[in-house]
Amino acid sequence: MQASNWTPALWLGFEPMDAMNRDFMELLGCAQEATDDDLIEAWRALVAHATGHFGTEDGWMRSETFATIDQHAMEHRVVLNLLREGLVHAQAGDLAPARQMAGELGAWFSRHTQSLDAALALHMRRVNTASTTAD
Ligand SMILES: [Fe+2]
Ligand SMILES: [Fe+2]
Repeated sequence: MQASNWTPALWLGFEPMDAMNRDFMELLGCAQEATDDDLIEAWRALVAHATGHFGTEDGWMRSETFATIDQHAMEHRVVLNLLREGLVHAQAGDLAPARQMAGELGAWFSRHTQSLDAALALHMRRVNTASTTAD
């Protein structure tokens, strides 16, 4: 399997989100390439990152009363639960769920970034531009 990589197609033009998205892809790539001995550690790092990444976006959406928060936050919740379940299984000696998710997450993440994240980034860029021009 080719390890997932950040590509310019995922660029949103709002650096705080772009930085988190690059980190997600890098950690996913590490998990995909991890040996069985390293997978739990790599998966734990991905879960920790996703918790902060999704929580940050959820916080922005709440503070901005953002229109698509329900769907967007729901995707975060579902994926985070799956990631955590994968960690629980891996820690119990079953690496298969994490391996399977590692193979599928890149496609989900691209879709998520290019639709829900893109809408949020556009909004955040507007808000930021408005607040800098107001100064
Ligand atoms: Fe994101
Ligand atoms: Fe998101």
